Amino acid sequence: MDISSTPPAPKVIHRADYQPPEWLVPEVTLAFNLGIEQTRVVATLKVRRNSSSQVLRLNGDGIAAEKVLVDGQPSNAWRMDGADLLVDLPGDAHEIAVATAINPKANTQLMGLYASNGMLCTQCEAEGFRRITFFPDRPDVLSVYTVHIEGPKALFPVLLSNGNCTGTSEGADGMHSATWRDPWPKPSYLFALVAGDLVANHDTFTTMSGRKVDLNIWVREGDQDRTHHAMQALKDSMKWDEEVFGREYDLNLFNIVAVSDFNMGAMENKGLNVFNTRYILADPDTATDADYDGIAGVVAHEYFHNWSGNRVTCRDWFQLSLKEGFTVLRDQLFSQDMGSQSVKRIEDVRVLRGSQFPEDSGPLAHPIRPDSYQEISNFYTATVYNKGAEVIRMMRTMVGPERFRTGCDLYFNRHDGEAATCEDFVKAIEAGAGIDLAQFRLWYSQAGTPRVTARIAHEDNVATLTLTQEVPATPGQPSKQPMVIPLRLALFDRASGKHSGEQLVVLDRAEMQFAFPGFAQAPVLSINRGFSAPVALDAGQSASDLVFLAARDDDPFARYEALQQLVVQHLVAEVAGGMLCEGDREAGRDAIRGALAAVIADPALDDLMRGELLILPGEAYLSEQFEKADPAAIRAAREGLKAWLGTALTDQLVALHERASAVPYSLSALARGSRKLKTQALVLLAAAVPELAARLAASQFDAADNMTDRQGALGVLCGLDTPLRAEKLGAFHTRHAGEALVIDKWFGLQAGSFHPKAFEQVKALAGHAEFALTNPNRVRALFMSAAMNAGVFHRADGAGYGMIADLILALDPLNAQTAARFVAPLGRWRRIEPGRAALMRAELERIVAQPGLSKDTFEQASKSLG
Ligand code: PHE
Ligand code: ZN
Repeated sequence: MDISSTPPAPKVIHRADYQPPEWLVPEVTLAFNLGIEQTRVVATLKVRRNSSSQVLRLNGDGIAAEKVLVDGQPSNAWRMDGADLLVDLPGDAHEIAVATAINPKANTQLMGLYASNGMLCTQCEAEGFRRITFFPDRPDVLSVYTVHIEGPKALFPVLLSNGNCTGTSEGADGMHSATWRDPWPKPSYLFALVAGDLVANHDTFTTMSGRKVDLNIWVREGDQDRTHHAMQALKDSMKWDEEVFGREYDLNLFNIVAVSDFNMGAMENKGLNVFNTRYILADPDTATDADYDGIAGVVAHEYFHNWSGNRVTCRDWFQLSLKEGFTVLRDQLFSQDMGSQSVKRIEDVRVLRGSQFPEDSGPLAHPIRPDSYQEISNFYTATVYNKGAEVIRMMRTMVGPERFRTGCDLYFNRHDGEAATCEDFVKAIEAGAGIDLAQFRLWYSQAGTPRVTARIAHEDNVATLTLTQEVPATPGQPSKQPMVIPLRLALFDRASGKHSGEQLVVLDRAEMQFAFPGFAQAPVLSINRGFSAPVALDAGQSASDLVFLAARDDDPFARYEALQQLVVQHLVAEVAGGMLCEGDREAGRDAIRGALAAVIADPALDDLMRGELLILPGEAYLSEQFEKADPAAIRAAREGLKAWLGTALTDQLVALHERASAVPYSLSALARGSRKLKTQALVLLAAAVPELAARLAASQFDAADNMTDRQGALGVLCGLDTPLRAEKLGAFHTRHAGEALVIDKWFGLQAGSFHPKAFEQVKALAGHAEFALTNPNRVRALFMSAAMNAGVFHRADGAGYGMIADLILALDPLNAQTAARFVAPLGRWRRIEPGRAALMRAELERIVAQPGLSKDTFEQASKSLG
């Protein structure tokens, strides 16, 4: 048999196969001798039998054991089983020592120990620890870690690990060392080590019980001044978690390190969070308002993991949403409390609809608690994170914040120090909050976005609301049971424009009716207020009811939603050819223009909210409305509407731009609102009056004393065919030369633009001297922006698909985790019109045919072909 052409059958891990660990490791000591090209590790494990097994399995990945000691004696009683090391152990407790050597510089996967910008750092979640040393690398094995780090002081003046530093020493030949001990037992995925030439922004926080905690944010020399926003967010998070969840920090030291090569946003290692620089570094000149919000949100998220993730961790990786869904909810609530409640909710729903709804309706759909996986890295998804957060938010909505808090307290108290399951969480909320969640548990097991319809009938002073639900089939789940769907609603009296109080109805059958007496005429329905349930809703509202709600709904989310729905209905009809007569089109556009004009003029709105309301529904969400979408038709209809609105509202938009431009820079909500409006006005004008928009954008660019204005203006210019485009792109690049995070924006803006030559521009940028496949931020800036840009990705000739497939194949050997994330856009083929679908499918086939493909990319591509 020719083995090179027969890929090994992928190994599938099933949730139902969970077995407790055969051996426990109560204590581990790691000794590191650091070098960029060779680091030596000796791991000493105190192991204790937890079953009848006499064989200890230690996971490994790409490492070799140089020496094995059992109870202090060199041993031969071990063998390799694939990548794992097996040791025969006769007794109940032993001490195993294993020596390994690794080359951090050669580690382009950025999992395990790797080099970034001259420093060394680790990333262990989910299964990176086994690339450092042999270990039972699973989250239900909890150990107390002692870590000795030794290395040349000139290269690595700072040596960090989890917990507290218990000693340092200076050695001969310029070597030095440090010892760290973390008193809190933790799984291996929370281990971290950082060594490098770093400087700290230092601060302190005094906890609710009066303990002083040292806080450090470690960055490269020169970046200290850009860490203040992150530091403030950290202190705010620590305080907020004490006040809102009663959770206090549990060490006297909290370190954060920023690294420029990182696969994800950040990582919650105990006492030593490691961050992608983009979620730490900010100043007004280099970071946008959205970047500031991203930083605060991620700093909070990682800090909150100290309780939801670290003190209570996951039993196995199927339980990932236990820590991620809950922690996302916690960071969302934090951000709501720190800024604008309603704007934050709208932003979170936009992310859910733009990223998670497509997952739920595609070939990679999975429940928030998956049943199986080939590669766990593929399950760090919007479903596990964001839908996971929505599911817990629904529990909170049904019981209210106080009872929810009682349930959370019970969860933390019951499971502190344990590796828990989603079921443990649900049980704690049931007992603590006093609610039966038996049927609600379906949210953990059923994938797919429920489709809910709502219709109002009116007779004899009674309004009757009929609700139906249907959960679509998803891969492996052909038929579904009805879910528990909490819907906040209000019924507006048409005459007074008011409602007599919000109610919560819980839809838990396929069809239900609710009667509301006391209405002389049919009321206007406002439903799923605050987006109380993550469902796709068809409320059958007329355009005039939507205009009514867009103007006066007292729930800000519902108001936004009415406006969005008005636009969605119009564009869907336009694209589907439902607007056969010009009269319908005119009426639809007029309704939207009227609603937007009212938003622009409404003195009761703040500018942050006003800016939010002016954003039209995104192309991804619009595509979701079609069984088979035509991306070019959606782009054309949406841009066409923008052009019409920009023309109809030119004067108001120019006035808005002028008014907003007069507000000086600050981080206040008012000033941020102005900046948001300013660029939104340009976005609409650009589609309508490009010369005028280009002129305004260029002057906004020139006048900008902050990145929000500069990037907003440049983004608009990037989409226009004007000499100002190249001029300002050049000026931007020169001004920010060498600032990696800003150069990322420069790549991203061009790749995401509406410019007719955007595809050619992306191709050229891929050959730019500053493009590098080895840096995930740069790869995402260029190619994720391109893959999300229908004008590039969905070119009718398929060249966009070919470009992304080429990227996947080139990146896969270097960084499989990041490569695999580019498969999903191609995997959408079933929901795209047949011509393009065939081209997308052909690229997926080309990918799976590649010999030696990583399991990450293989799993995503083969499942996408289905
Ligand atoms: N656990 C991290 C978080 O959500 C994300 C992460 C996963 C980072 C895997 C790196 C690797 O905060
Ligand atoms: Zn997380």
